[in-house]
Amino acid sequence: MQVRDKLIVALDFNTAEAAAQMTDKLRGRAGMFKVGMEAFTSEGPMLARYLVDSGEKVFLDLKFLDIPNTVKGACRAAAKMGVTMLNIHALGGKKMMQAALEGAAEGASGDRSRPLVLAVTILTSLAAEDLEDLGIAGPPESAVLRLARMAQSEGLDGVVASAREVSALRKECGPDFVIVTPGIRPAGAAANDQSRTATPKAALDAGASYLVIGRPITGAPDPAAAAAAVLEEMQQSS
Ligand code: C5P
Repeated sequence: MQVRDKLIVALDFNTAEAAAQMTDKLRGRAGMFKVGMEAFTSEGPMLARYLVDSGEKVFLDLKFLDIPNTVKGACRAAAKMGVTMLNIHALGGKKMMQAALEGAAEGASGDRSRPLVLAVTILTSLAAEDLEDLGIAGPPESAVLRLARMAQSEGLDGVVASAREVSALRKECGPDFVIVTPGIRPAGAAANDQSRTATPKAALDAGASYLVIGRPITGAPDPAAAAAAVLEEMQQSS
């Protein structure tokens, strides 16, 4: 795996055109592009299809959470679209996780393998008191580890987790578990609304498999140069 394969650029745009233009500036400098709720709700599957058809890998970040049958259908549709990675909420439970895996496998056809299915454990926006309101016992860190273990034992490929959680998760879930980490800020970059950030090198050193980076690259005056600088920083990871 080359270092650029580990870089996922978040295309948080409200038009497919703006996202596609950004992709064109970044071709060859990122291993994958993340299509999330804003772009998908604005434009539907058009952007993800465009990216797949133009040879790029896509992480469909729609965090599915519904009854198993509905999630199965959504994962089947995502796999048919040709995405490489998708995610669901671990809080949907074991049956929903199984259904997601089944749907993803059913939708993959030909020489295309099943997309990686990742779990979102506890949203990083939730603090201990929010979990208490929700009736989830214990500190957020233990809920994260508990849900990650559950996802792993149900056969999911990995989790999305903040840099703060990566090393504990890596220890808990072993070397092959995929850990995708957002909230990355290159040395010297603005934090924006992210509060617990890590540099690309620190996140990789802690054990992240992939980094998700949006605004530090897509909001830079020269996105290609910003991506190249991030790749340099990633390269320094031991
Ligand atoms: O622009 P920025 O680098 O902050 O973008 C990070 C991306 O990762 C966004 O698409 C955001 O939705 C996503 N994300 C996050 N924090 C999480 C989970 C996902 O920033 N805990």
